[in-house]
Amino acid sequence: MRDQYHEQPISSSFWIGRIFDVPNLDSGHQSIKSISTDPAFAADCRKAAEWLAGALAEIGFSASVRDTIGHPMVVAHHDGPEGAPHVLFYGHYDVQPVDPIELWDSDPFAPTVTELSPGRKVITGRGTSDDKGQLMTFVEACRAYKETHGALPCRVSILFEGEEESGSISLQPFLDANAEELKADLALVCDTGMWDADTPSITVALRGLTGEEVTIKAADCDLHSGHYGGNAANPIHVLTSILGEMHDADGRVTIPHFYDGVHETPDHIKADWEALGPPKGFLEDIGLSIPSGERDRSILERCWTRPTAEVNGITGGYTGEGFKTVIPAEASAKVSFRLVGDQDPLAVRENFRDFVKQRIPADCTAEFTEHGASGAIQLSFDAPEIGKASAALEAEWGKPAAVIGMGGSIPIVGDFQSKLGMNSLLVGYALEDDRIHSPNEKYDLRSFHKGVRSWIRILDALTA
Ligand code: BES
Ligand code: ZN
Repeated sequence: MRDQYHEQPISSSFWIGRIFDVPNLDSGHQSIKSISTDPAFAADCRKAAEWLAGALAEIGFSASVRDTIGHPMVVAHHDGPEGAPHVLFYGHYDVQPVDPIELWDSDPFAPTVTELSPGRKVITGRGTSDDKGQLMTFVEACRAYKETHGALPCRVSILFEGEEESGSISLQPFLDANAEELKADLALVCDTGMWDADTPSITVALRGLTGEEVTIKAADCDLHSGHYGGNAANPIHVLTSILGEMHDADGRVTIPHFYDGVHETPDHIKADWEALGPPKGFLEDIGLSIPSGERDRSILERCWTRPTAEVNGITGGYTGEGFKTVIPAEASAKVSFRLVGDQDPLAVRENFRDFVKQRIPADCTAEFTEHGASGAIQLSFDAPEIGKASAALEAEWGKPAAVIGMGGSIPIVGDFQSKLGMNSLLVGYALEDDRIHSPNEKYDLRSFHKGVRSWIRILDALTA
């Protein structure tokens, strides 16, 4: 009976213990702090890769940890019936930094299960939603499928990356060097979310990203702000005034040529989004009520189809306890640009650099460091796999799947297209309130359980 496993519950203690060290759930595992952006956690990244390779080997994959110029990749293969398609599943085992740590209600790497409201259980911890919990939905789907049928319905390869959250520097060379091995008929990517808690979703648009860090340097050393104030250039003032000029009063980005390659969304697509209704509580749930950004655009347009310039962090001067009267020698900011349409990520970088250089005083300098660049993704709305996955998701969730965009970025999807000539199917079970990249990140156990079952149904649908 093919349908038998769809009704099999998968115990939560089983999978939670497998990803994290949860006291009293499964004592055999350690929590792994795979924060890719901070070199202090490089050994943890390797440990996470090794753990995953072990978990995949346990269910019959030939799995290996592959060294790269950055954090290792996990590559695994499992055979399938002759003539069936070959899918490549992708997820990332790396996570974002945990700071500000004081805002977590529990240790980010000691995940805990709590009941948010009657019957709604969630697991809290860094990476529970983005992307460890999500990638495990696929691993556990394979485990359940094999336990039930003794085999997988198609050939399955897996690629788990360890640098997704930090610019994926190894990705391009790795894909180039291993293109033959990784190329499949379709990539399955589990790193996105659902429209709402009851509506399964297939994502067809992602924004691209250019990451930049700029440091403004003025005097040779920190200065007494009484003695020098009013005469010496203050790099924090220089920096913030330049960053302040990046937007006009209507919320548009003022960097020349920034909107080159940005297209208007066709009316029929906007009409489809209207039909979804406004995203419930999008701002209200985070304590806001007034949309910022470009005037005269809907929330969904701003999130899915418009580019942005955001300052993600800014440092300089004295920020410790008490007060120190100083004009610092330097100040820096990390800035990210979300890209849409045909915007060129490298041109955006150059245009930003020119914008800064044209505005600094002659005796100050600006230094730049790049942090990744990837273009926006637009997948076809009517690829055959979308229809098959839609039917599978509807069978699991009892509601038609929404075909949506997402404001975030998953750089590898573009490389799958350009380097391996491979389409991607983006299905994920994260929810709006998962607080990804934030303190108290969580994942609903329902997302996990129904996510596992959804993948099983999708594999069946793709191979029927
Ligand atoms: N899972 C997210 C991408 C995402 C976010 C998809 C929100 C859908 C909705 C992914 O792990 C991520 O955060 N990517 C980074 C990539 C960047 C560091 C290159 C991002 O979007 O900031
Ligand atoms: Zn992610």
